[in-house]
Amino acid sequence: MPRLTKTFTARFGHAPEGVWSAPGRVNLIGEHTDYNGGLALPIALPHRTRCAASPREDDLLRIHSLQDDAFVEVLIQDVAPDMPKGWTAYVAGVLWSLREAGYAVRGLDVVVDGQVPLGAGLSSSAALECSVAAAASDLFGLDLLGSVEGRSALAAACQRAENDIAGAPTGGMDQAASMHATKKHALRLDCRDGATTQVPFDLSAHDFTLLVTDTRASHALADGQYGARRDSCETAADVLGVEFLRDVDPSALDEALAKLPDDVLRRRTRHVVTEIARVDEVVEALRQGDLAEVGRLFTASHESLRDDYEVSCTELDLVVDTALAEGALGARMTGGGFGGSAIALVPAADAERVTAAIAAAFANAKLTAPISFSVTAAGPAAKD
Ligand code: GLA
Repeated sequence: MPRLTKTFTARFGHAPEGVWSAPGRVNLIGEHTDYNGGLALPIALPHRTRCAASPREDDLLRIHSLQDDAFVEVLIQDVAPDMPKGWTAYVAGVLWSLREAGYAVRGLDVVVDGQVPLGAGLSSSAALECSVAAAASDLFGLDLLGSVEGRSALAAACQRAENDIAGAPTGGMDQAASMHATKKHALRLDCRDGATTQVPFDLSAHDFTLLVTDTRASHALADGQYGARRDSCETAADVLGVEFLRDVDPSALDEALAKLPDDVLRRRTRHVVTEIARVDEVVEALRQGDLAEVGRLFTASHESLRDDYEVSCTELDLVVDTALAEGALGARMTGGGFGGSAIALVPAADAERVTAAIAAAFANAKLTAPISFSVTAAGPAAKD
């Protein structure tokens, strides 16, 4: 019996009704655009979080994981900001927000096995939320996994859990990626209307690979920096009289910038408007099979995030600079920034050499050893 099922059975005295899993993600491009009603282009990672679960006939949630000794019991109606604390908030928050959305969910017995690296900017929290949401959908007959609309409803509930219960003011990209992204495709996500488009993404056909490097520099989205960026974007949109910075046409960017009162707002706005434009340029370049252009756009995105949006850091810049010096077609930080992971577009035959060069550069700079690995686009939340 697999360890997850075994632990569940030992803990609760009965076998789980099933096991569900959901992936982490890397975003190819479209960073800090989701909360601006913009575009993003994530892929689902092969790394998944699994959750073994059984429904209960009361409102009690009993939550445990293979990675942590915590065993938390909480009633759905008692779930609130900071209740429960820590990672169990992501589990409890999902049941709470599904109920808030009007779904008839009851309690659950849950054991989680998280295989998405933690704190690496690869959306381990969205993977956890989405695995629990998938379980709840099946166990309480919500029937939401079978349609794009249903999956969007689950993703929205997961985002609300993260915002309102776990207290991280994130946009919806991570949960949408975990719910909608499919194998061998990137997900073009329009965060204004929620529309999703599957874009073929199979670098192996070109003998290329996507190298992810977890810098292991700490990153915490709940700290003030992420919220500060959101606030600046909202202020800029207010001044410009638009609902979202998405509404600023790239061809009218200079006029918009001239209306903003300070340099910080101008740079934040320039990042968002140019980054949204780069997403469809990458989609087009992928359709044409033009990886050199994809790489160029990745690097332009990194420069914009580093210089205009100011969410990069020494470690992320070092990965990008080293990968480019070693022949990557492009490289950029991915996710919220301030640490976490970077991606590089490299010939498959060079992946090992680039990995070694990045490790050497970190050792040379006396930084914690990073972890690099190649990824392919994997599938969404599902019953195992
Ligand atoms: C984090 C958030 C996302 C998104 C990215 C930046 O991953 O969770 O909603 O804003 O940062 O693109």
